[in-house]
Order: sequence, then C-alpha cells, then structure tokens
Amino acid sequence: MTDIDALVTGGTGFIGRWLLPELTAEGQRTAVLLRGSGNRLRELRSWVDAHGGRGDLVLGLSGDLAAPGLGLDAEDLAVARTARRMFHLGAAMSYGLAPEIAEEVNVQGSERVTALAASSPCLERLVLASGFQHRRSGRLSTNRYHDSKLDADARVRLLTQAQGIPLTTVHPGPTVGDSRTGETTQFWGWPDLVHALHRGRLPLVPGGRDHWFPLVAVDFLARFISRAPHLADTAGGQYWLLHADTPPLADLLAAVAGDLGVRAPRVHVPVPLAALGLRAGLSRWTGLPAEALVFVSNDRFPVADAQRIASALDLTEPDPIDLACTTARFLVAHDFQAPTPIHRP
Ligand SMILES: NC(=O)c1ccc[n+]([C@@H]2O[C@H](COP(=O)([O-])OP(=O)(O)OC[C@H]3O[C@@H](n4cnc5c(N)ncnc54)[C@H](OP(=O)(O)O)[C@@H]3O)[C@@H](O)[C@H]2O)c1
Repeated sequence: MTDIDALVTGGTGFIGRWLLPELTAEGQRTAVLLRGSGNRLRELRSWVDAHGGRGDLVLGLSGDLAAPGLGLDAEDLAVARTARRMFHLGAAMSYGLAPEIAEEVNVQGSERVTALAASSPCLERLVLASGFQHRRSGRLSTNRYHDSKLDADARVRLLTQAQGIPLTTVHPGPTVGDSRTGETTQFWGWPDLVHALHRGRLPLVPGGRDHWFPLVAVDFLARFISRAPHLADTAGGQYWLLHADTPPLADLLAAVAGDLGVRAPRVHVPVPLAALGLRAGLSRWTGLPAEALVFVSNDRFPVADAQRIASALDLTEPDPIDLACTTARFLVAHDFQAPTPIHRP
C-alpha cells in the first residue's frame, strides 16, 4: 500500500488544479478523490506537470462526495487514511444548483470528509474551502449553493471540535486567473461581467460608488492553502482570502475596459434593480446572469488574519487591477471558453 502526504477533494476543479502543483512541487505525495475514468488522472497529471508541479506524485482514488463512505473501496480507503493533511475543496457549484445535490455533495460530502479525517491516525490538519459571504448574509433561501456551503461550514466546525481535529478554514473571494498569466478554468462569475463589458453590453455599473467585486488570484490562493498548515497557529484559524485593495467596481471595470480598448460604463444602478432587469430579460442581451451580481456588495471582510499569515508565509498579493486586466486578456484570447477540454466525469 502507498502512504500519502495529502488528500485533496476537488483536485480536478479550478482551485484544486492550482493547489496540486503547489503540493507536489514540495514533494508531497498527493491523492485526489476522483470521479470518472483513468483518463482523468492522466489529464490531471499532465496538467500538474505543465504548471510547475510533479504529476508523478498525484494518485487517483476513485470516489464520490455524494456516496456513502465517499465511495472508496477498502484499498483506497486505507491509502486515504494515511494522509497527514486533507484539503476539502470539492463542491457542486453552479447557478441554480438543485437542492438535493447541494445537500448530498456539499453538506453530506463535507461530513463524510470530516469522518474520514477523524479515522485517519496521522492526520495533522484538515483544510476546508468555505465561502466568503457567509458572515454578511447568513442564509439566502434563493441560493442553494450559498446555503449548503454555510451548512457545511457549520457542520464541519461542530464535528471537528467534537473530535479534536485541527481545522483551518479558508473563505476565498471570487477567484480569478493566475496573476502571472491570467489563466483560469472558471468562466463564470467575474468572467460574466468581463464578457458583457467586452461585447459592449454592460451599459451600467451594478451598485453604488462604494460597491466592489473583490477578487483573489488563484495562484495566490492555492499557495496560501497549501502552506497555511505549515504554521501551527493556523489550526483553528479562519481566513478571508480576497484582495482588500480591489478598487470599487466602477474603477475596476474602467481599468479593464481601458486595457481591452472598449467603452466603460459610468452610470450606476442599484444592485436589486440591475438584478430585476436581468431577470426580466436583459440577461439575454447582456449575456449576464442575475446571479453574477451576488458578488457585488459594499461589505468589507475581516482580512487582517489572512494578511498576517500571508506575510508569515512570504506571500505577496498581486495588484488587483493588474490581476483583473491579466485575467481579462486571457478570457478574451480564449473567447471566454476553456482552451482545452477539461475531462468531466
Ligand atoms: N471559485 C470561487 O470563486 C470560489 C469562491 C469561494 C469558495 N469556493 C469554494 O472553493 C472550492 C473549490 O472551488 P472551485 O472553484 O475549484 O470549484 P470547481 O472548479 O467547480 O470544482 C469543483 C470540484 O469539486 C468536485 N466535485 C463536485 N462534485 C463532486 C462529487 N460528487 N464527488 C467528488 N468530487 C466532486 C469536482 O469534480 P469533477 O471534476 O469530477 O466535477 C471539482 O473537482 C469549493 O468548495 C467552492 O465552494 C470557490
């Protein structure tokens, strides 16, 4: 049997893809809970190789967050239980997520990962990817994804406290491309706004002058997630990971529009009115789903602890305007679609 250093759920997803090169470049033998065929493991390994990691250190464990016991067979379960660190990033995430999938994958799946952590004798840390808006809004009955992440966060906290599992929680903001190249595999959320802007179909700025759409670079986030468990004092910590100096949305859109050579919107419209207009049919013309506005707010988030840890880990946040422009250039260059097909289960 093979011993592993790390177990990752969601390793084929956007943030997970950037996490794997970080872990394997440090020499960590990393198992990924994987749905689907062996082709997916081959694709993932070459992606890791191409992004500065070591594909040969990536193992696939066939399983599913929605299945009892994570769908692991006895042999893979024994491998999973040798992990010293578990990174739970896997989640079902989409606009209009079905309630039963939200419950089975996001809530029960998180309970299953916590149960696995509790039965793993070498486990030193469980890292949970939660969500950044929890603190603000509490439950939103209209957004099952949001509510399921909130429920998962609460259940994992309770279970880990009861079982004495050291937990680190990260609350990533809307995650965009790699700060060096703009590369992303996620084409909704911020990319929806950039797409409408690029097509000349964003005539108004959603929100007032102090509203913003906070961004975080996927490479910065992945580095933080991979390294946070190196520090003993991150056990029990919760970290809001978003670039706090992201400017107001109007200024960010103006910077991106200037970079792309398109016209920037200047007139503001309240978020609820913009969402109403989009739901009433403007979504078709703009290409912008009303749900994309859920990330626009005038809230501020408690980022001080994350900034302290980032500095202890020697991580530097990218400039948010450069990040937004670099990501926008990548999106335009790839016509707002994944450049190579990412295998789905
Ligand atoms: N991206 C953001 O802006 C953002 C912001 C805040 C928090 N987060 C949180 O960060 C985490 C990672 O997000 P992401 O953007 O990387 O998501 P993503 O790109 O949608 O990836 C989701 C991952 O979860 C896996 N998954 C989904 N259902 C599964 C199931 N039933 N069994 C096993 N694996 C399953 C997917 O595997 P397949 O490839 O098999 O589908 C994929 O690897 C999530 O927990 C998300 O809630 C993300």
